Amino acid sequence: MTSVVVDRIGLLVTNDPSLGEGALGLVRDAAVVVEGGRIVAVGQSGLDADERIDAGGRCVVPGFVDSHTHLVFAGDRADEFAARMAGRAYEAGGIRVSVAATRAASSAELTALTAGRRAESRRAGITTVEIKSGYGLDVEHEARCLQVASGFTGDTTFLGAHVVPPEFDGRTDDYVHHVCTDMLAAASPHARWIDAFCEVGAFDADQCRAVLAAGHAAGLGLRLHANQLGHGPGVQLAVEMGCASADHCTYLSDADIDALAGSDTVATFLPATDFSTRQPYPDARRVVDAGAAIAIATNCNPGSSYTTSMSFCIALAVRDMRLTPEEALAAATVGGAAALRRTDIGAIAPGMRADLVELDAPSYTHLVYRPGMPLIRRVMEAGVLV
Ligand code: NIG
Repeated sequence: MTSVVVDRIGLLVTNDPSLGEGALGLVRDAAVVVEGGRIVAVGQSGLDADERIDAGGRCVVPGFVDSHTHLVFAGDRADEFAARMAGRAYEAGGIRVSVAATRAASSAELTALTAGRRAESRRAGITTVEIKSGYGLDVEHEARCLQVASGFTGDTTFLGAHVVPPEFDGRTDDYVHHVCTDMLAAASPHARWIDAFCEVGAFDADQCRAVLAAGHAAGLGLRLHANQLGHGPGVQLAVEMGCASADHCTYLSDADIDALAGSDTVATFLPATDFSTRQPYPDARRVVDAGAAIAIATNCNPGSSYTTSMSFCIALAVRDMRLTPEEALAAATVGGAAALRRTDIGAIAPGMRADLVELDAPSYTHLVYRPGMPLIRRVMEAGVLV
């Protein structure tokens, strides 16, 4: 097997404190040796290998782990976004617009659209992506969306409980029963996770609890959209049910933060969503200081956050959520891995998958210091330059 050394790394972020300085495990003038898609050695510049890539003194960070996206959809909601910028509030009901467009698209179209978005996110340094369904909302189309998603990731999530589709208007409990039975049966062979949108205008705590319990019984891992548009029971439900992640966490009470801090549930922040929906930014500082685990994800979707730029999310998290650049970078890498309960990604250490991002910058602080700039220079995913 051919080995490759990424050499002359000015500043390497390993996310492994045993390998270097501080929580990020920083190594200066570093080298990383990769073989068979895995990292086999981390050390000072000059390590030996069959082939050599010269990082030219730049900063190298672990590939970003995007633990919350909705990449499978058709249609466009730019007009809805423009109306929001003119003062209209974000409403969960906009999801139905994407449902209509997604149902009307062929599988080949959905695959091509998803491939385009995944290529874009890879260029943005995202080497692992989670993808939810949620724009099909019937047996056939949810299963189809998950099949498409499975072509791009193993971290697929069944989100039949996204909103109530028009054919179930006024019959939310009937729809929840349908999600928990026929839809789940069709979706679960293609999904690793199950999720629900716990929010006014979507599903209440009892309905979400029923969905998560059915998913658990079918062998799926649990995650939840929680506390996006207002205070509510979502975060506490996520903790009660042992969800891997409570996503959004825009509105958090002290009791929510205490619950997260005393649990294994990761608080996943989606700052580009708060940007695109003009919500207040959550105070992530309080969550970190309380001892809870956090992640940052893009939430790429057509309604509330149409971006695959993790760099943008990191910049917002530092500028507006009071994280340090170190905390934000960790949240976008090893934090995302924890939110997906993955131990093979999120760090640059022997045995980990070889997911590396070379920045066109001497340090990761430039992701925040130079917002909006194309700083992702080269991306290696599982040992392959992409
Ligand atoms: O995570 N909140 C629910 N789902 C998506 C938005 C979906 C949409 O508006 O199309 C989210 O923000």
